[in-house]
Amino acid sequence: MKYLTFALAKGRLAKQAMALMEQIGITCEEMKDKDTRKLIFVNEELKLKFFLAKAGDVPTYVEYGAADIGIVGKDTILEEGRNLYEVLDLGFGKCRMCVCGPESARELLNSHAMLRVASKYPNMAKDYFHNVKQQTVEIVKLNGSVELAPIVGLSEVIVDIVETGSTLKENGLTVLEEICPLSARVVVNQVSMKLEQERIHTLITKLSDLITD
Ligand code: PRP
Repeated sequence: MKYLTFALAKGRLAKQAMALMEQIGITCEEMKDKDTRKLIFVNEELKLKFFLAKAGDVPTYVEYGAADIGIVGKDTILEEGRNLYEVLDLGFGKCRMCVCGPESARELLNSHAMLRVASKYPNMAKDYFHNVKQQTVEIVKLNGSVELAPIVGLSEVIVDIVETGSTLKENGLTVLEEICPLSARVVVNQVSMKLEQERIHTLITKLSDLITD
């Protein structure tokens, strides 16, 4: 039997995903070792392989078939726009993609004034402003701590993930507009979906039954 390979977005998402997998009998002991520098983990019995990757790279591995299955946030799926099948909402990692800024920026947003928008998600920001709101804006790509941008005057607003809202609150910012809800998703390579239909279908059904129980 061929190995079925999983790409997991490194961090909290991967931990939660593995906890869910354990509940349907899929374990990977090697992966639990905190000190390991290993990049790929194998479950010989079940003929499964797992690797951890930067979230933004997970859709790439899956599109090219280097991984059959990926577990990654909807934010990354939307931002990367890869060719793959999104097959299941895992229901954890729930948060929202929002336009945020100081309360004073609300007027600018409504007046369709020329704005600068900072984001780790330039494609999502562009799609929202240009296609949904039909507003011309300048997008500035950042790589983290995006909340800094309106504070130091790099941009008027940001497009970013809001989970508890505490990062915004502690920095005097607020949600101005909601773009969409987000959560962890299972994605599948388009060819694997056909060639490994049975194994993948069984797995997705088990996961889906587990989370709807
Ligand atoms: C994310 C996001 C916000 C924060 C939201 O950042 O970009 O900054 O979490 O969470 P909250 O609403 O619960 O405060 P992350 O921790 O991934 O770090 P980064 O900003 O450096 O990317």
